[in-house]
Amino acid sequence: MHKVVWDMDPGIDDALALILALKSPEIQVLGITTVAGNAPVKMTSANARRVLEYLNAESIPVAMGASHPLNHSLEDALSYHGPDGLGNCDLPPPKLLLYPAKAWDFLVRLVWDAPGEVTLVATGPLTNVAYAFELHPELPGLLARLVLMGGAYGLTGYGKGNQTPYAEFNIWQDPEAAHIVFNSGADIFAVGLDVTMDPAACLNRQHLERVKTRHTPAAHLVAQLVEYEVKYHGCCRMHDPLALAVLLDASLFDYILARVEVVKGNDWDRGVTRILLSNSSRLIHVASAVDGPRFLKLFLSRILEE
Ligand code: BDR
Ligand code: CA
Repeated sequence: MHKVVWDMDPGIDDALALILALKSPEIQVLGITTVAGNAPVKMTSANARRVLEYLNAESIPVAMGASHPLNHSLEDALSYHGPDGLGNCDLPPPKLLLYPAKAWDFLVRLVWDAPGEVTLVATGPLTNVAYAFELHPELPGLLARLVLMGGAYGLTGYGKGNQTPYAEFNIWQDPEAAHIVFNSGADIFAVGLDVTMDPAACLNRQHLERVKTRHTPAAHLVAQLVEYEVKYHGCCRMHDPLALAVLLDASLFDYILARVEVVKGNDWDRGVTRILLSNSSRLIHVASAVDGPRFLKLFLSRILEE
């Protein structure tokens, strides 16, 4: 069982990852913190609660975090994820109240309550995580590990940018935060575009039709989210569910152990994640290949079960 604190910016694929987690007995979500990324933070905070309420998981607290990156203004991705950030799905606005603390304070408290036991999952820009690490430099060492979706490492033909030709969205959005986190000493597993853009790990229309045959709340919501992506983007990229999958079955991936430099600032190379081969400190695990069909089988089996 993995005790998880999750920082997210839902976002269609964040929501798919959350549904996968709620359907997975290996994962216990202790709390969620929300960050500005795919949508403004009030919307990502509402979306996390919309999904939790719909799946009867209201007992998971949601604390709202940063409304913009450390040194930049927010450039959301609503044009990709739809005007509500969740592909215009039919979930009502949330009734659940936000947890009355700032995201980073809440995150710190949950880790302190179970030192060494909590895995931090981060599937949005790393702003909240950076605030928490800056406020409490001992925090990275108290985590079981940190699994994040972010980066494009040039390890496969898919490891190019999606926000710019060179940079991935989450890291590009807040490169200063990513720089802090990547140099924090946490035991990091980074899942980047090198694996999440592998077409063998994407849901297509045939998968969607299978999901539509199942009439459970989880399958109904997954079908709506995937339908939007397939309609507007041709297939459904599984960026954030793939990051969560590291906890469900680490053997789905190959990894390299490397030091990663994050390019800060606002130049053409903002948010670039560069592998530095010659360094032997601050090494992190970077996913370099995924068994896409086996991942999709796992995802669908969890979503399609009663
Ligand atoms: C990442 O950016 C966001 O749009 C997705 O939710 C994912 O976390 C992919 O680059
Ligand atoms: Ca995300």
